[in-house]
Order: sequence, then C-alpha cells, then structure tokens
Amino acid sequence: MSETVFTARNLTKRYGQLRALNYVSMEVRRGEIYGFVGENGAGKTTLIRVLAGLAAPSDGQITLFGREGNLAKERRRIGGMVESPAVYPNFSARENLEICRLQRGIKDKQSIQRALETVGLTDTGKKKAKNFSLGMKQRLGLAMALLGDPEFLILDEPVNGLDPAGIMEFRELLRRLNAERGITILISSHLLAELFQLATCYGFIHKGEILEQITLAELNAKFKKQLYIRVDDAQKAAAVLAGENVECLPANILRITGGPPSNAGLVRALVNGGVAVEEVVLRGEALEDYYMSLIGGRR
Ligand SMILES: Nc1ncnc2c1ncn2[C@@H]1O[C@H](COP(=O)(O)OP(=O)(O)O)[C@@H](O)[C@H]1O
Ligand SMILES: [Mg+2]
Repeated sequence: MSETVFTARNLTKRYGQLRALNYVSMEVRRGEIYGFVGENGAGKTTLIRVLAGLAAPSDGQITLFGREGNLAKERRRIGGMVESPAVYPNFSARENLEICRLQRGIKDKQSIQRALETVGLTDTGKKKAKNFSLGMKQRLGLAMALLGDPEFLILDEPVNGLDPAGIMEFRELLRRLNAERGITILISSHLLAELFQLATCYGFIHKGEILEQITLAELNAKFKKQLYIRVDDAQKAAAVLAGENVECLPANILRITGGPPSNAGLVRALVNGGVAVEEVVLRGEALEDYYMSLIGGRR
C-alpha cells in the first residue's frame, strides 16, 4: 500500500446549523495530484482550511504524514495557496518572497531564488507586484507556497480567473513539480474540466459530503467505451466501423461503445474509408457528464 500524506476520517465542520463538512473521509497518497472537485459552496475551502490548521474541525480526525494530534511540525512540510495570496502590491516578487520567508521563519535564503526560477519570475526585477498580470500574481503565490521546499502542495482554486493559456501554463508547472520533485499536490476547482489531464485522482465533494473518490485509471476504465464522433455521413461511418459497437445518434454523431484499440486508429479508419471526421468528443466531456450525473440527484 502506498504511503498516505493526508487522510480525513469523518471530518465534520459546523457553522451554526450548517454542516460545511459532513463526515468527510478521504485520502491523498504520496506522489498524487489530487483533484478536489465541487461546486461553489461545496466545502472545498473549508476542508483545505482544516487541513492547513486555519480552522478547527467540529468532529472527526485528520492525519498528516501518518501523524495525528498536534500537527504543527507536519504542517511545516506543506505549502499552501489558500484564497488569494497575500501579496504586497508595492514590493517586487523577490521582496514579497523575502517578507514571506521571514514571516514563516524559513532559514534557507536560497529557497527564494529556487522558487523564482521554478515559477519563471526571475526576470521581473524591480517591477512591483501591483503591476503584475493575473498569471504572474498566481505564479508569485505559487512561489510563496514553494518556499521551504514543501512535500505537499495545497492549492485552493489556483486558476480562478486565469485565461485558457494561463491555465495551461499553470498546469504544466504543476505537472513538472509533481514529476521532477515528487511533490504531492491537492488542487481544488469548481470546474472539473480545469483538472482534466492533470489530476491522477479525483475527490468529488457536494454539500459537504464526499460523493466519490476515484483514481484516473478507474475513471478511464469507465470511459474507455464512450467515444462520441461527429462525421459528415453517419451511415457510411457505421459501415466503415462494422465490427465495432457503433450507435448512430442524431446529427451524424456516432457513439462507440465497443472499445476500439485507439482513438487515433479509429479516426484513421474513418478517414481512409472516405468519411470526414468533424469532431471527436474528448473523454473530458464524458467526465463532466459523469460528474453531473453524480451530483444530479442531489441538488
Ligand atoms: N466562516 C464561515 N462561517 C459560516 N459559514 C461558512 C464559513 N465558511 C464557509 N461557510 C459556508 O460553508 C459552506 C462551504 O463553503 P466553502 O468551504 O467556502 O465552499 P467552497 O470552497 O467549496 O466554495 C458554504 O455554505 C459557506 O457559506
Ligand atoms: Mg472555496
């Protein structure tokens, strides 16, 4: 069994009558990129605040790096970007990191340079943070989280407001941190699509409850047989793909449920057969459907 970085057992957080977290159980294993998905108000920030020690649970336990109880020492092994990063607008990136380093009592001064290099903010010189683009501000926030070389990085909706290019860049950065330094990452989002092709495991939270925790491999297995292709001539396409389990839907859309060897091979067969492929619906969208079906009955 692989090592667990974080576990929650029956974690409950009450705000008066409201249960922001209701008997939440989940676990994040070392090396994972855990996508924590839920609508606005689902309880993501609350869980993260409890994890980070910013809020006390009403009930239940959490374990960090295999320990329970007083987790002050364990929390020093965590880097977090919770809510919008506290950036001083009139200071440069380096100055902001220096302030952050002093506040957190991190001795290693070199970690500032390392963090700047990691997020690609070494050449911003004297430029004040208030003049940064949103993407640069997010990267500065990430640099702050990386001070002290954490083993576990917690990011609460870090790509909120970023444009698609910014999201892709941020995603690449996280993937590198995970692959090259083995940093375990918990990243929350209210948009499942933002975590698609990044997370290796998903936890779906809804109204303070975990609906499901599932690995990427398990999810892919569920969706291997769900591929939607829009073509110019569905009947012709179905004939080309005879042998596969093909269904013709309205608007020249095919649903393939037999599990073809590869999507690329399938498209090639269609094109070679004289069929124009207009659109292939990625599994990410199927994932979205799945997620909607999960929360659908619980609105
Ligand atoms: N400090 C608080 N006091 C009262 N209610 C809160 C507080 N923080 C969060 N809540 C409520 O808890 C629920 C979960 O909020 P939150 O964890 O911020 O959700 P998310 O981050 O998934 O959008 C919401 O209904 C929110 O209004
Ligand atoms: Mg939140």
